[in-house]
Amino acid sequence: MTPQTASSVPATPPITRASCERLDADDPLAAMRARFELPDRTIYLDGNSLGALPRATAARIADVVSREWGRDLVASWNTAGWIDSPRRVGDALAPLIGARAGEVVVADSTSVDLFKVLTVALRIARLDDARRGVVVSEADNFPTDLYIAEGVVAQCGADASLRLVDATASDAREAAIVDALDASTAVLMLTHVNYRSGAMHDLHALTRAAHAAGALVVWDLAHSAGAVPVDLHAADTDFAIGCGYKYLNGGPGAPAFVWVHPRHVERMRVDGVGQPLSGWMGHAAPFAFGSGYAPAVGVGRFLCGTPPILSMAALECGIASLASVDGAADPMPALRAKSIALTGLFVSLVESRCGDALSLATPRAPERRGSQISFHAIGPIAGHGYAVMQALSARRVVGDFRKGATDDADILRFGFTPAYLRFVDVFDAVEVIASVLATRSFHDERYRVRSAVT
Ligand SMILES: Cc1ncc(COP(=O)(O)O)c(C=O)c1O
Repeated sequence: MTPQTASSVPATPPITRASCERLDADDPLAAMRARFELPDRTIYLDGNSLGALPRATAARIADVVSREWGRDLVASWNTAGWIDSPRRVGDALAPLIGARAGEVVVADSTSVDLFKVLTVALRIARLDDARRGVVVSEADNFPTDLYIAEGVVAQCGADASLRLVDATASDAREAAIVDALDASTAVLMLTHVNYRSGAMHDLHALTRAAHAAGALVVWDLAHSAGAVPVDLHAADTDFAIGCGYKYLNGGPGAPAFVWVHPRHVERMRVDGVGQPLSGWMGHAAPFAFGSGYAPAVGVGRFLCGTPPILSMAALECGIASLASVDGAADPMPALRAKSIALTGLFVSLVESRCGDALSLATPRAPERRGSQISFHAIGPIAGHGYAVMQALSARRVVGDFRKGATDDADILRFGFTPAYLRFVDVFDAVEVIASVLATRSFHDERYRVRSAVT
């Protein structure tokens, strides 16, 4: 074989709208888009914040409201399976994160679920070794995770503390986290895919490193569940929680999920380790109305109060919207392959058209990122990131904005939900971005007014 010379390397064909249309025509997941209600002429790149509405949801909610609630009233707790919904929806979600039936419950919010599992992880770690009281996390973890961790360690007084690793350079992040683990570490608490940069941790390697240091691991899968393949059992990790309203398309305020490795559930039973929100739905026999708390068998002990049935029904539809279209048992590998193709296309197009104003904040290597691409607003748009995103939304390209520590660190976030996005959407979105930057239409006064939610 003759080695290729520079001149013989075939030139990469230019990306055109027509070439993107061909990618859509060949897309094995194309049929999934019809499962979603998507507003006309809108390119929705914010499924990492709030997933789009599955078509099945409105009819299902209407049925829950009019028939199950309106007609059957309180009987529906039994006849419509309302009481089983935290476990049933948990079972539907389990395969997407490498969990088994009976190991996941859906309840409360991610923040509340984190409070429960982090408290338990700390209790178990300290039971094994009372000198371990440190929760290690990252300074740029999602704020609610750190606020909850502050609250959890504060309850332990001087016996526990939070140690934050501040490593922003993505290639140094994991090494710095491993360096922070020592004989005082009780729990390593991390978010798998960073909400700002979209950088994805190696869940397996960090779990191994924490275990090697004698610590337990809690993973926040908010930006992973339904977005990237996760195999909690293969990683042999300890606890996981995550959001229902992002890539699981469960709707605004959808309940969150909790997974606990069965070895810890068993440990809780044997050693009487309780989760701190010991409400009646996590009781072994809620309708016995007995005095004194006795936890349910299994992960059901992580439930607390009455499930939000309308939101449960919506989340059930959201999870069903991810079912594979080709009969594959696990939809995640195909969704991931498309996500990588969409995000890769977006990066190439933005960098070739808008590279002076948008600098990539997400790791370039596909295996190091989730399903989102973030850019820093630099050069001509430094300090105008929010206005740029408002101008894009006005032109129906919807992403979102996250404030950075400095103007140059502001982030424009674009989420790519492979179940409903097409390659032409990526192409058209970049056309709009390039036009907003070229015409400087973001300088319009109305785009400067900050809303409560950015
Ligand atoms: C990593 C992460 N954790 C937690 C949350 C939110 O938690 P909650 O649903 O309790 O508001 C978010 C929200 O975006 C998030 O990105």
